[in-house]
Amino acid sequence: MTKEQLIALLNDMSLEEKVNQMSQVIGGFFDDDTVITGPMAEMGFTEENIELSGSVIGSMGAETVKKIQKSYMEKHPHHIPLLFMLDIINGYKTVFPIPLGQGATFEPELSEKCAAVAAKEASVSGLHVTFAPMTDLVRDARWGRVMESTGEDPYLNGLFCESMVKGFQGENLSDEYKIAACVKHFAGYGAPTAGRDYNTVELSEHTFREFYLPSYKAGIDAGAALVMTSFNTVNGIPATGNKKLMRGILRDEMGFDGVLISDWAAIEETIYHGYCADKEDAAIRAVEAGVDIDMMTGIYCDNLCRLVREGKIPESLVDECCMRILELKNKLGLFENPYKDADEEKEQQLILCKEHRELAREAARKSFVLLKNEEQILPLDKTKKTAFIGPYVNSRNLMGSWSIIGEAKDITTVEETMAVEEAGNNVVCCQGSPMLGAEVILEGFTEENQATYTPEEEAKMLEEALEAAKKADQVVLFIGEDRLQSGEATSNATIQIPQIQQNLLERVAEINENIAVVLFSGRPLDLRDVQVKAKAILEVWMPGTEGARAITDVLYGRYNPTAKLPMSFPYCVGQVPVHYNEYATGRPHVEGKDKDRFRSKYLDIPNAPLYPFGYGLSYTTFTVSEVSLDKDSMKDGESIQAAVTVKNTGTCAGTETIQLYLHDFAASVVRPVKELKDFRKVTLQPEEEARVEFTITEPQLRFLSENHIFESEAGVFEVFIGTDSTTANKAKFTLEKQ
Ligand code: BGC
Repeated sequence: MTKEQLIALLNDMSLEEKVNQMSQVIGGFFDDDTVITGPMAEMGFTEENIELSGSVIGSMGAETVKKIQKSYMEKHPHHIPLLFMLDIINGYKTVFPIPLGQGATFEPELSEKCAAVAAKEASVSGLHVTFAPMTDLVRDARWGRVMESTGEDPYLNGLFCESMVKGFQGENLSDEYKIAACVKHFAGYGAPTAGRDYNTVELSEHTFREFYLPSYKAGIDAGAALVMTSFNTVNGIPATGNKKLMRGILRDEMGFDGVLISDWAAIEETIYHGYCADKEDAAIRAVEAGVDIDMMTGIYCDNLCRLVREGKIPESLVDECCMRILELKNKLGLFENPYKDADEEKEQQLILCKEHRELAREAARKSFVLLKNEEQILPLDKTKKTAFIGPYVNSRNLMGSWSIIGEAKDITTVEETMAVEEAGNNVVCCQGSPMLGAEVILEGFTEENQATYTPEEEAKMLEEALEAAKKADQVVLFIGEDRLQSGEATSNATIQIPQIQQNLLERVAEINENIAVVLFSGRPLDLRDVQVKAKAILEVWMPGTEGARAITDVLYGRYNPTAKLPMSFPYCVGQVPVHYNEYATGRPHVEGKDKDRFRSKYLDIPNAPLYPFGYGLSYTTFTVSEVSLDKDSMKDGESIQAAVTVKNTGTCAGTETIQLYLHDFAASVVRPVKELKDFRKVTLQPEEEARVEFTITEPQLRFLSENHIFESEAGVFEVFIGTDSTTANKAKFTLEKQ
């Protein structure tokens, strides 16, 4: 449709039609035999609302979607198509590693490919919009949703957000296999106080703008069609009713002109925050903030028409929101083809096809971080007798909690992979312990997750594992969090592996000291105990559909680990929030050097995390030369070349991620001790070396200055180049201002 046609359509729509475009309902409402009673009526929905609503969440499958779309459009006065939306977070049916794992690849282009595959599978299943990427900056491992983020660094998050948006949307939303992306959760959702989900967010304007906002902006600049509001308050005002945030920052400053959707029932929650007096007030605040779609409450459809008629809000506000929704439908080409790519045959051909599975395997391998590898216990020596022990040996739950469409039946377990693909590798497999002990209570979870074993069964499992460990030369322990322990509403004050698995580790370690741990988790964990007992630790996150094959690829050295931590692994929970890009204090503490009492430090633990941002080992080793600069000062508009020589000093080929960090020595507002500004992957054969060059330009030196604008200031800068965020390999240069 042309813009004129859209305007004509809008002008021809009744107020009810326009308002109902702004509400989202679940597909179940469209079942022929659904009667609007009980909870749905309580939510404020009537039969008419369902018949006029603009979008649906949670219906998928070409056949289902086409059926709903057809009967809906036939009844709709203007035959406007519905939008079908869903959370397609790390894949549709082919499930990729969780976003935090994808962050560890330090390869945004790979995430672009994964998002494109997810879009392909979702689009043939009738979907038009995904609620992804989530780009909330995260610093607190207690928060269960860190698994949905790509980590603690604004620059890295921005790159991933941009790539994912591009992957989902492609060049043109109406193109085949493309779906609209929704950047979320705007804004600051990743900083809930004390790591408790949905909790208050208090961030200084400076921190908010400098660290938290940039990655949303990157997604918006990449053309994301939608943005989702966050549940939380931001400095006292719920984001969903926050006009300054949504109109001022998101639309005016960032230039976002797409559809703004509330998070699930977030408009209603402005009441429980103590911000809005009632539903009417909530509707007014949200629409005034420019929230176009009310996800899953009847607040808009129950209140907006009346509010317009009573003159409490101008109809132009409704027109504006409705127009943005119509525009999105138009961009997706739904007026011409309301079913878009929905196609039963293609669902059969494409979903979980070989190519998609191969990409899932590649992404998984590239997301595994080798945290420790003493005595080069990894890769495994096939000639040695090996015991694979732990609840993840035969688990199909490798997908992460947001993989709602992925099915366990499509997953091959580690044990099955060993039997089929690694037969003859001298391995016995046993479970050793349940995933979770009875002491872990997952309140409110409905899923059948805690298989119950009798004490006798548990004892037998352990006995069998200990027996296997005794006979083996080496043990690989497949342990970690249950997939339900991270994700939405899974904040944890204890960030260790479940006690029952800790016990398994301890008992095995008493018998066999050659232990490699394959660690599953959705968040950084406190690994002090694991680290002491294991010679190797391979963090595999929640690796997805092809997780097991990817793990054996790495265990047997067919793939040499390349990933780097996108989020610091704290020494213990008492350190969180912890992140590498912190500010210095007036009393910095140098570990092991300062003996002075009055320093910024803990008495009982170190300041440094156990494993820092950017860290990750390889089966080979690398050296990085001193940093050389082509000049030691630059002016605006000029650049400096910074270079190092990287050498593979080990015995096998490998890939290292060379990271460039900058530090502004003195500035009008204090600067982080280091900020990631660039990185480069380099693959080298043993003894091979390569020069890695970076170009430093003035925009990389900008920050939110005392003038409240992003600008650079003249002065001295340090440039660090190394293999993780603790590198001390540096040089200095000066920025001169005319
Ligand atoms: C989550 C969102 C999600 C939405 C729809 C909410 O509970 O916070 O991230 O997109 O549900 O499923």
